[in-house]
Amino acid sequence: MFVCLGNICRSPIAEAILNQQIADKGLSNQLAAESAGTAGYHIGKSPDHRAIEVLEKHNIGTAHEGRKLSEQDLKVFDHIVVMDEENFEFVHNMYHKAFGMPPSAEKLFLIRDYDPEVRGVHEVPDPYYGTKTDFENVFEILSRSNESFLEHLIEKYDLQSDEESGESTSE
Ligand code: 4NP
Repeated sequence: MFVCLGNICRSPIAEAILNQQIADKGLSNQLAAESAGTAGYHIGKSPDHRAIEVLEKHNIGTAHEGRKLSEQDLKVFDHIVVMDEENFEFVHNMYHKAFGMPPSAEKLFLIRDYDPEVRGVHEVPDPYYGTKTDFENVFEILSRSNESFLEHLIEKYDLQSDEESGESTSE
């Protein structure tokens, strides 16, 4: 579960990229990404047009509709993956309040923990008030961070592609 503030820019881009990377590795029967916002400003809305455009430019589609993160999400999803420190603090507090204990580092973390090129700042910058170039930058950050996060998941759960593990629905 990817989380940002509005759920119309960063987290829907992260969700679409990771689902594409999961499909490319033949793991769609075993893993799935979703996204939500800490705020409810854009519930039911499509992603920002600039988010849709940057995804389209890289041949990735999205049918996401904005939604707000719920306590149920914190229970159901194995990993809550946030974009910035503000998201982190919000989700950390929400989790602590809901379950009476803080989330583990394996459960809640910043996606740039997995960015092989990260230097200092660990956040995915909010592009909402920015330009097309800022959206392209978000795409690049998320692309390489997700790639390395996915490698981590493959190792952690010892995953094999759907076909190899006999999970394929084709005959
Ligand atoms: P996001 O960007 O958190 O990456 O979806 C934003 C989207 C909307 C707003 C802020 C950030 N807003 O204030 O409406």
